[in-house]
Amino acid sequence: MREERPYPAPPEYDIFKRRVRELTGLDLDAYKYQIHRRVHMLMQRWNMHSYDQFYDYISKDPEKLREFLDYLTINVSEFFRNPVRWWHLKDVVIPELVDLRKSKKLRFLSAGAATGEEPYSLAMLANEANLDDSQPIDAWDIDVNALKKAMDGVYHQRQLVNVPKEWLPRYFEPKGKELYQIKDMLKRRVRFSVKDLIKDPFPEEWYDLILCRNVVIYFSPEAKSKLYRKFYTALRPGGYLMAGTTEHIFEYKEIGFISPGAFLYRRPM
Ligand SMILES: C[S@@+](CC[C@H](N)C(=O)[O-])C[C@H]1O[C@@H](n2cnc3c(N)ncnc32)[C@H](O)[C@@H]1O
Repeated sequence: MREERPYPAPPEYDIFKRRVRELTGLDLDAYKYQIHRRVHMLMQRWNMHSYDQFYDYISKDPEKLREFLDYLTINVSEFFRNPVRWWHLKDVVIPELVDLRKSKKLRFLSAGAATGEEPYSLAMLANEANLDDSQPIDAWDIDVNALKKAMDGVYHQRQLVNVPKEWLPRYFEPKGKELYQIKDMLKRRVRFSVKDLIKDPFPEEWYDLILCRNVVIYFSPEAKSKLYRKFYTALRPGGYLMAGTTEHIFEYKEIGFISPGAFLYRRPM
């Protein structure tokens, strides 16, 4: 990762960070220099003169709090990010779930779906496995603008490098020189919703597979732990959670998961 020059952080910033953590569950110490710079940029843009004033402003106005969170959370994504994991889902996890449920009706969740690459990648796998399309894949994110982009479904070709060549004409229409549009048949397989993973409730014993990758980076350890427990209850027995390639769930046994593979956690039967 690129080395960032540290920002001088006055003691008031520590108090601000603690209050934001209590309010939202976000840990501003993750990626601290980038975050500190972003906090400053937003303070300047909104003409705020102190961290106290800024905190009052965002804590009293849910709209502004949402803008603040949108600004901090970065929506970088791509299709089939870390491809080895995806081919494991395709070749092992999905066939196993079909066998287990004795059904092609599986329920998937992309938690932190950003601009749609992850849920659309799942939708391609679902289509390739002939899964029932009456059950759309849930795709949740806190960031309304990212979800708008996801619903538009237009991507630059560099985001498609991991899509198998023969799948391109099946799932995308070329749009101009370097852009591709997701086809409607794939869009119909995904249902996007604005959700806050920390605050919003999840259905219980509902999902067969949950993907939550590259999302929890800013979460405090308590918020992470709470979220992983929510995932556990949201999974049907036998269901899987796939985390990002830097996101080990250290307390997975304590929560009740088993870990049958790298970054893969399973609620036992
Ligand atoms: C880096 S993207 C990850 C996209 C995708 N999962 C991937 O791995 O390519 C992180 C996403 O998590 C979302 N996010 C962060 N905090 C969230 C929260 N509390 N609830 C829902 N989504 C959140 C951000 O808005 C952002 O779109």
